[in-house]
Amino acid sequence: MGMARAPVPSPGILDIAPYIGGESQVDGIARPIRLASNESALGPSAAAVAAYRALAGEIHRYPDGSAAALRLALGRQYGLDPARIVCGSGSDELIGLLLRAYAGPGAEVLYSRHGFLMYPIGARSVGATPIAVAERDLTADVDGLLAQVTPRTRIVFIANPNNPTGTYLSAAEIARLHAGLPADVLLAIDAAYAEFVNRDNYEPGIALVERAENVVMLRTFSKIYALAGLRLGWAYCPAAIADVLNRVRGPFNVSAPALAAGVAAVEDVAAFARARAHNDRWLPWFSERLARLGLPLTPSVCNFVLPRFPDDPRRNAEAAFQFLRQRGILARKVAAYGLPHHVRITIGTGEEMEIVAAALAEFMEAA
Ligand SMILES: Cc1ncc(COP(=O)(O)O)c(C=O)c1O
Repeated sequence: MGMARAPVPSPGILDIAPYIGGESQVDGIARPIRLASNESALGPSAAAVAAYRALAGEIHRYPDGSAAALRLALGRQYGLDPARIVCGSGSDELIGLLLRAYAGPGAEVLYSRHGFLMYPIGARSVGATPIAVAERDLTADVDGLLAQVTPRTRIVFIANPNNPTGTYLSAAEIARLHAGLPADVLLAIDAAYAEFVNRDNYEPGIALVERAENVVMLRTFSKIYALAGLRLGWAYCPAAIADVLNRVRGPFNVSAPALAAGVAAVEDVAAFARARAHNDRWLPWFSERLARLGLPLTPSVCNFVLPRFPDDPRRNAEAAFQFLRQRGILARKVAAYGLPHHVRITIGTGEEMEIVAAALAEFMEAA
């Protein structure tokens, strides 16, 4: 019936600038130092790898579509009601499912200016309008977010702590944000980096999910649990929202190897503690080294840092990125996040951080 000569995607789709992931290869370098995607420094738990391998001969079987074992394990570990956990193929999938279920054409989706890019991308993909709200000191601004709420607002996404800035909102600030939202607006707290945070006034969102009907917390296995390649995330929801997500998700949206490795990873508390201790040691070490080079740094509570480079073209973010890249060190450019003067660097192994710190010292002195 249409007049177009070819299929036309739905409104909003062609406004999407495709997500560009961090680089993983450099020509001529066999094993680059990969600090572009906030992956785990230490790699997966041996128990998770064993669980994954053990399933190799069973991959002709569908996974348990209800993810029962994983939801039970998460419930035990975090003191949660397993019936209100929904698993996804990465938290990316859960972001998309929330948008599909609760936003759509005409809806507005709020997120903070330097927030995770999948919020505006996902919003556009369902025909909703993403609204970027200015930050203060590279931190989400609760008053600014609340000021942008309109009758069309359906979801507020807040990454807490946030990628790529590394900053966080206290439990009190999150509670204030929630208190200011109408009851029919969904607050999605994306706590992908929650396990790294060591601040007393932080809370990943569980307490709020327990007492509110319009709050969801998202978590991932891609960061501290070191299973990014398997694609595994989870949401903790009010019962009504879990019910909605279970209606819209694919019946087998999480693969069997991911489920098995996920259970083993959750139960491997020693591997978790090692990963936490590693970050507690190297995040401050590396932050301090950058500060000594005169690179301004907003304190990060995650497994990455975001130094601000000078404007001088010999020492700016692009020059730093290329300098590192030529030495086989892959960091992340964040201009797509509205941060053209910054470079995001993941906390890798101790040896890697020493190499990167030395390279950056050379870069700042040479220029
Ligand atoms: C804030 C935030 N949310 C979600 C994700 C996506 O995680 P997943 O690998 O579970 O899709 C990331 C990944 O970098 C992230 O930084």
